[in-house]
Amino acid sequence: MVNTIGVIGLGVMGSNIALNMANKGEKVAVYNYTRDLTDRLVSKMNGETIQPYYEIEEFVQSLESPRKIFLMVTAGKAIDSVIESLVPFLEAEDIIMDGGNSHFEDTERRYTELKSKGIGYLGIGISGGEVGALTGPSIMPGGDKEVYEKTAPILTKIAAQVNGDPCCVYLGPKGAGHFIKMVHNGIEYADMQLIAEAYTFLREKLHLDVDEIADIFDTWNQGELKSYLIEITAEILRKKDDMTGLPLIDVILDKAGQKGTGKWTSIQAIDNGIPTSIITESLFARYISSLKEERVMAEGILKMPEVEQQNLDKNVWIDYVRQALYMGKVCAYAQGFTQYKMTSELNGWDLPLKEIALIFRGGCIIRAEFLNVISKAYEEQPDLANLLISPYFAEKITDYQMALRKVVCEGINSGISFPCLSASLTYFDSYRKGISNANILQAQRDYFGAHTYERHDQSGVFHTNWQ
Ligand code: 6PG
Repeated sequence: MVNTIGVIGLGVMGSNIALNMANKGEKVAVYNYTRDLTDRLVSKMNGETIQPYYEIEEFVQSLESPRKIFLMVTAGKAIDSVIESLVPFLEAEDIIMDGGNSHFEDTERRYTELKSKGIGYLGIGISGGEVGALTGPSIMPGGDKEVYEKTAPILTKIAAQVNGDPCCVYLGPKGAGHFIKMVHNGIEYADMQLIAEAYTFLREKLHLDVDEIADIFDTWNQGELKSYLIEITAEILRKKDDMTGLPLIDVILDKAGQKGTGKWTSIQAIDNGIPTSIITESLFARYISSLKEERVMAEGILKMPEVEQQNLDKNVWIDYVRQALYMGKVCAYAQGFTQYKMTSELNGWDLPLKEIALIFRGGCIIRAEFLNVISKAYEEQPDLANLLISPYFAEKITDYQMALRKVVCEGINSGISFPCLSASLTYFDSYRKGISNANILQAQRDYFGAHTYERHDQSGVFHTNWQ
């Protein structure tokens, strides 16, 4: 019984988490179902305190009690089979942590099954990619609080640190941690798509070359747009292709992949009546992108008529695009945080919105300067209905809306699609109107289906004989 923690699953993420733990002074037992990955990790070690095991029983027996076992295994059935193979060797009070991108409902099922055996189970969202796993990711734990407390000394140590605070706090019961990671990824999809649209405007409307756009992104990264995704996009734009010497971005095929977490975010939102149009548009943008052959064929059929193009003043429009991107981001994060708030209320989770914003400031893919403003908004108003109406953002986006309108209109008039920028504007305009056109829908529903409607001037439910 020598090791303080065990890691199962030694792909890049699992190996780096194990190395991170070892670098922070933990004695780490590692195990992988196939020997090759264990051997690869062992060959990379420079005297870190990592002990490889090739039998699961020996691995488990090497851990001090209560045993803490961290799974970095591909989400899905593999997690269930690892748990099944572990359980015969575990005792009450032992703890399994799932650090993969599991669906939060699977986590809740596993949590309940293991709790009935006295075994603690934490669903832990981890963000930061392979570098983050090694140097400090953002960590989103969910499960029983007292179980989390036993793992907190290790988790907070391996997490990213911002101003001395770990990007890891207890977030809520059962699947709450994996739910928060899932929506994090939905926000990530929207943020990435918004950046892609800003790039498109600069390239196609302002005719800037890739290096000029990289410089603009670098400049934006000095201000209120400062974020990891803006920073890496500038670096991506500067990268040249070894084979052709062209900007690498110009030889990368325009078909986006996805592993499912953004889709889960939209499904959960739709199932629960949560308006996350920008996040969902970013998912659909990936789907449409993957219809490459059809799009190429359609380009020859669906022509845009000749329209007189206005000469746009570069410097003025670069700043419009900056403001439009900032406002789009605010709207997308507002949708993600609304999803946290509404789901928290539905499930009685009491999710700490301020802390979620704080732990997103370091380590994770959506880390951004303006998360400080988001956390402050929830600190001042813990029950804030929507980030759009927090004093800081309300003033900012009221000011920036004309830039977003101009950018979206220019795109529409030039036949360029801006799914997330336009969804942001639509969300803003729908949310800020006290009166909508849903009265027409209600009348139509009542007309053809006697579905009834309510009135402004009287309470109760009404039906009209329309014909
Ligand atoms: C992170 C990332 C990470 C990964 C996802 C999304 O926070 O570290 O979100 O979890 O990049 O798998 O990937 P897809 O774009 O393939 O869905």
